[in-house]
Amino acid sequence: MRRLLIAGNWKMNKTVPEALSLVRELKKLVSDVNDRDILVCPPFTALYPVGKELKGSNILLGAQNMFYEEKGAFTGEISPIMLKDVGASYVILGHSERRHIFGETDDLINKKVISAAKHGLTPILCVGELLEERERGETEVVVERQVREGLKGLSRESEFVIAYEPVWAIGTGKTATPEQAQEVHKFIRGLLSEIFDSEKAKRVRILYGGSVKPENAKSLLEMSDIDGALVGGASLKAESFSKIVKFDR
Ligand code: G3P
Repeated sequence: MRRLLIAGNWKMNKTVPEALSLVRELKKLVSDVNDRDILVCPPFTALYPVGKELKGSNILLGAQNMFYEEKGAFTGEISPIMLKDVGASYVILGHSERRHIFGETDDLINKKVISAAKHGLTPILCVGELLEERERGETEVVVERQVREGLKGLSRESEFVIAYEPVWAIGTGKTATPEQAQEVHKFIRGLLSEIFDSEKAKRVRILYGGSVKPENAKSLLEMSDIDGALVGGASLKAESFSKIVKFDR
């Protein structure tokens, strides 16, 4: 009932020519895929040209962040209207790098989630615990707070995606085992059931992120509550990203 979503978060990588060459190659490699959603999230500077290049293809466009206001005196920020304007349909919000390097709080992230949904962008709300938090047995407490606070006030009708990214697995080469990831995904689906209801919870896609590679994609994506992947490093090369996209179900 949930369509797989394989998303690439390019983070602060790729100039415009590099971005275009990556998506041109990717388009060819995944042109035959129609049973799952494919999403790329380039940096802001490459959104417009990449969006143009992707028109008519089976690859969706997303951004990595946004501010919640529509326009005005917010130097350095990008609004949901601007993202829609360049063809984005998704936006990653609350990524652990935004939380930990840029100090984004649950409250700020929640404002962004609400604003994205209001403007017809699908927010991908990222949640995940630090290594110390996992070691102290606080994974569920942290994830519950991030999910509840991040979704506060969001209507049941709004479309959204959750990405579970344990911070200790991001860019470290250390992946959560499929069982560890499944346990948290199941916990998150239970929370969604409490926040909304079980019907809604069954429809929300929960992605796993953290050192996803062609070699481990299948074992993670086979788990019953893992509905896709948010891929960092391995999305920067068309070959490795396409292999993850095309993992054999
Ligand atoms: O958003 C994706 C991410 O944080 C995971 O990055 O490089 O570990 O796949 P990476």
